[in-house]
Amino acid sequence: MHLIERAAERLRQSGNLNHGTAHLLQPAMNPAEPGPIQPCPSPQGLAPAGRRHPVIDDQALQSAGMIDWTRERSRVAEEFRIVQNQILRSAFAPETAFESNSNLVMLTSARPGEGKSFASLNIAASIARQRDREVLLVDIDSKADAIGRKLGLAEAAGLLNLVSDPSLTADSLLIRTALPKLSILPVGTDPERRGELFATRQMARVIRDLGQANADRLVIIDAPPCLSSSEPSLLAPIVGQIVLIVEAERTQRQEVEAALDLIQACPNLTLLLNKIQLSTKHSFGAYGSKYYYAS
Ligand SMILES: Nc1ncnc2c1ncn2[C@@H]1O[C@H](COP(=O)(O)OP(=O)(O)OP(=O)(O)O)[C@@H](O)[C@H]1O
Ligand SMILES: [Mg+2]
Repeated sequence: MHLIERAAERLRQSGNLNHGTAHLLQPAMNPAEPGPIQPCPSPQGLAPAGRRHPVIDDQALQSAGMIDWTRERSRVAEEFRIVQNQILRSAFAPETAFESNSNLVMLTSARPGEGKSFASLNIAASIARQRDREVLLVDIDSKADAIGRKLGLAEAAGLLNLVSDPSLTADSLLIRTALPKLSILPVGTDPERRGELFATRQMARVIRDLGQANADRLVIIDAPPCLSSSEPSLLAPIVGQIVLIVEAERTQRQEVEAALDLIQACPNLTLLLNKIQLSTKHSFGAYGSKYYYAS
């Protein structure tokens, strides 16, 4: 409650956050229903630390929520293209200094279930499909319905292992997908030490290294909600961009303000309004993407 009041006061005083733009993302016209958790077809089962995991196929990606890109004209596909362009501009504009980690983009939200993983996967896939840019999707959520688990990566080594074991290299843990330009770094297999590891300097170094290892690669971090977990605020000063997903007609303004308060250390904040319902039946083609400024 205190946080919410503090954030609201700051917004009132500043008048305008001037923290970028927000897009409207409507519910997918035919969203891929997240299916049951699909174990990857490895003969050894899921890959432990240090062992290569099988490539994640298209069907597994769709089961985890990737939209069907063959429906090129679908409204939601168009929305993702617009969002991706905004992110790419901020990440790779000539005036953007490489040192600012602008190619590190974290998606978070105030509350659970607002669409972070859905947006992370589809923005990553949308960019990777264009084939001129590498994309690394980093899952930092250990929940049962997190994207890595939906992809059958619950037992795969990943970020937490990289932090706790300096002998590991990120490249050796990246999991390839059916999209040649898209790879995934799972959260990893040290969940008991999760809280402790995220607060370490080694975590900050590992995340920065993911961005700096390849300045042309976009790193998308799918984070938990910031009002109920500490990771987004811990990573806010490290990443170059944060996209705050806001579920339309559900999330309260005060919750958004409290979330913004927690992640304000990031220099580039974008609001993405998700699950917009269009009321008019004549709206086809008017995909409803528009900007508004948080004020
Ligand atoms: N624009 C959208 N169109 C259709 N379905 C969507 C959209 N956004 C999210 N969903 C669906 O809403 C549900 C919740 O989304 P998702 O898992 O991405 O939320 P989340 O913010 O990552 O949740 P958590 O806080 O638990 O990590 C999923 O079933 C997802 O497929
Ligand atoms: Mg999620």
